[in-house]
Amino acid sequence: MNIPSAKKRFTSCFFFFFLLFLSSFVHGQLDYRFYDNSCPNLTRIVRYVVWSAISNDTRMAASLLRLHFHDCFVDGCEGSVLLDDTSTMTGEKTAFPNKNSVRGFEVIDAIKANVEKYCPGTVSCTDILALAAREAVYMVGGPYWPVYLGRRDGLTAKQNSANTQLPSPFEPLQNITAKFTSKGLDVKDVVVLSGGHTIGFAQCFTFKPRLFNFDGAGNPDPTLDATFLTNLRTLCPNQDGSDTKLAPLDANSINRFDNFYYKNLVNNTGLLMSDQALMGDDTTASMVYYYSKQPYLFYKDFSASMVKMGNIGVLTGNDGEIRKNCRVRNSYNY
Ligand SMILES: *[C@@H]1O[C@H](CO)[C@@H](O)[C@H](O)[C@H]1NC(C)=O
Ligand SMILES: *[C@@H]1O[C@H](CO)[C@@H](O)[C@H](O)[C@H]1NC(C)=O
Ligand SMILES: *[C@@H]1O[C@H](CO)[C@@H](O)[C@H](O)[C@H]1NC(C)=O
Ligand SMILES: *[C@@H]1O[C@H](CO)[C@@H](O)[C@H](O)[C@H]1NC(C)=O
Repeated sequence: MNIPSAKKRFTSCFFFFFLLFLSSFVHGQLDYRFYDNSCPNLTRIVRYVVWSAISNDTRMAASLLRLHFHDCFVDGCEGSVLLDDTSTMTGEKTAFPNKNSVRGFEVIDAIKANVEKYCPGTVSCTDILALAAREAVYMVGGPYWPVYLGRRDGLTAKQNSANTQLPSPFEPLQNITAKFTSKGLDVKDVVVLSGGHTIGFAQCFTFKPRLFNFDGAGNPDPTLDATFLTNLRTLCPNQDGSDTKLAPLDANSINRFDNFYYKNLVNNTGLLMSDQALMGDDTTASMVYYYSKQPYLFYKDFSASMVKMGNIGVLTGNDGEIRKNCRVRNSYNY
């Protein structure tokens, strides 16, 4: 794991307090200090468990960020992605965008178990996930943003919601933008949150059509850099057996949160069709150029977009519940 420099730490902290100053302690119905009295050690516990998990498996940083995104984008941030299927409910874990690819449930379980020791029945699983994603990004060199808290856990999950609401790497940019817009996000959030692909991996099947048969006539995606294409074809040969092999989303700095994702796009070495598509539209391409040159402004905007995303469809007050076990709604525990 890369240990970010002191200067980077300072800048991240600066943005954190800058954002706090701009936005105050409260965002929508959520409050940055929500658990200050009821669970003062919360952030420390989350940080420790996330740190251990990433020290063991660097890829876990990207997995936790993606898990938070998949929670919030499907029927709001209410922990539905964490629910296991039951005899009467088929949840999100087996939906196409999640099956055999979402990871990190054990990390959330471990955090929850520790949190329950200090403050039983107090902290929602969806808030734990939001904090874990922030700690994960920070630990691999990314920004530190204020996580507003007080979300409550939902009571159910629907497989079909995950299938229809999550953006797909096979969709055109307009479709992805439409999904963001339907959540109250905008085209800037599409570009900024796509920058999360500075860490993590994708399975070969998610970009294989680009390598061998992009146009239906057996030709590769013409926007792909030639050397990059050769390398990807070696990693993912045109056989079914390679479909689950992993390629880094940002081959330049695989485990480091930085702005190389955007530099790659400028160089035609974006991995997913949906990544490279940001260069096919004037508005989004100009943002890509901008972030490729301005890492700190990318950090600042990423922080702001994460706060926005963390506010999608939250349950507060007496809605939902505080789950005891993140995989099961409470009424099934008794
Ligand atoms: C460490 O990471 C591996 C996957 O890389 C996982 O199988 C294992 O359970 C992890 N161990 C701990 C203690 O988290
Ligand atoms: C916070 O954690 C410290 C060290 O683990 C512990 O001594 C303290 O009792 C905890 N505080 C609360 C309020 O749980
Ligand atoms: C994109 O959206 C349009 C209009 O909703 C839809 O007809 C089309 O199937 C979508 N394309 C993909 C690849 O999902
Ligand atoms: C982009 O391409 C240029 C020219 O081929 C090269 O010098 C540069 O290192 C590349 N940048 C990245 C981030 O790969």
